[in-house]
Amino acid sequence: MPSALPDGDEAPRDGSLPESALRGLGRRPFGVYVHVPFCATRCGYCDFNTYTAAELASSPASPTSWLAAVRRELALAVEVLGTPPPADTVFVGGGTPSLLGAAGLTGVLDAVRDTVGLAADAEVTTESNPESTSPEFFEGIREAGYTRVSLGMQSAAPHVLAVLDRTHTPGRAAAAAREARRAGFDHVNLDLIYGTPGETREDLAASLDTVLEAAVDHVSAYALIVEEGTALARRIRRGDLPPPDDDVLADRYEQVDTALSAAGLHWYEVSNWATEPKAWCNHNLGYWHGADWWGAGPGAHSHVGGIRWWNAKHPAKYAALLASGASPAAARETLTAEDRHLERVMLELRLVDGLPVEALSPEAQEEAHRAAAEGLLDEPALAGVNGRFGRCVLTFKGRLLADAVVRRLT
Ligand SMILES: C[S@@+](CC[C@H](N)C(=O)[O-])C[C@H]1O[C@@H](n2cnc3c(N)ncnc32)[C@H](O)[C@@H]1O
Ligand code: SF4
Repeated sequence: MPSALPDGDEAPRDGSLPESALRGLGRRPFGVYVHVPFCATRCGYCDFNTYTAAELASSPASPTSWLAAVRRELALAVEVLGTPPPADTVFVGGGTPSLLGAAGLTGVLDAVRDTVGLAADAEVTTESNPESTSPEFFEGIREAGYTRVSLGMQSAAPHVLAVLDRTHTPGRAAAAAREARRAGFDHVNLDLIYGTPGETREDLAASLDTVLEAAVDHVSAYALIVEEGTALARRIRRGDLPPPDDDVLADRYEQVDTALSAAGLHWYEVSNWATEPKAWCNHNLGYWHGADWWGAGPGAHSHVGGIRWWNAKHPAKYAALLASGASPAAARETLTAEDRHLERVMLELRLVDGLPVEALSPEAQEEAHRAAAEGLLDEPALAGVNGRFGRCVLTFKGRLLADAVVRRLT
């Protein structure tokens, strides 16, 4: 979840939504996101809404008060949504959900079950940091009903992990992935970051080898983003580290895509690869297709029927609002038809199935044909087959320039 909050309108104290937003609820996939705002230490590149124990020492916030507040928020979700559909997907993210241990994560899933409810075949993911997992942890969360684990590996090179301030040893992430599989998880993701200052092609090759040896069914690989206000940004500004270079990032993306595709992991979103469609992350697909989701927890974002809102960021403020009987929302916005169109192009264009060309304005359709002639969009897909409308599907070159293609089509 993004942690930079745009300005929005004031959110109603009771969290209520207009009838128009609730119409159609249940006909679209419905997801629940739970934000765990705790980390053992802060990684220098990360600007997510998360806090160390030291940062929370002088506040009443704790994992126990956080879970009580999340329960309250999920009960509020049931009130606001009327009879919500049971969640098709649940994603517990952070921060570091694995810091809660198997018992804490069982409590989180129980809170979802007792309130919104869970669809029979729901996908239930938790993010985990390799160093706070063990075979017993994975067995415990599998038994609780989690179906998918996403592990933050980032790199297998010790000096890259050091620049990123990651505390796990190079082999721990792959070992954790194997432990998760042994505990019965069919769906395991490893997150990689490429383009870290000092990372060579050989370092990335070693990370990719490690990922492939772990035989996971899903990989997310992100170019390192230098977020303003982070320790990494300060180190780069001081000249202690070089900034990531765009040409190097493009070269590394190609290296990732080549290695993963050769091993049978195919892209289904610009930064995500999987062995088969069954391994795609349905929760994230919900975000990318503009479905409905309720985001519970400090700073979490929600979207229902064109209304988007986001919660108070600090865990103490978040819990205090809920304890007073109020909604924890800090602000909200109503998406205009134009906002929704822009988001649709931006998100669906990044998917392997692309975007139907008729979703574009006549001028943007012409631009799509020009982009296809330049090799950025797939020509046969755009032409359509057997009288079916064409789709805008990025080529490999288009994936490297995805943001620029989006700008041209909006
Ligand atoms: C915010 S973390 C939360 C899960 C867990 N704490 C972890 O670190 O893996 C989720 C993922 O976001 C990605 N991420 C966070 N900050 C990033 C940045 N500045 N640039 C690129 N990727 C980033 C990392 O790949 C990370 O695995
Ligand atoms: S462990 Fe994950 S969420 Fe926590 S600071 Fe590091 S990258 Fe951010």
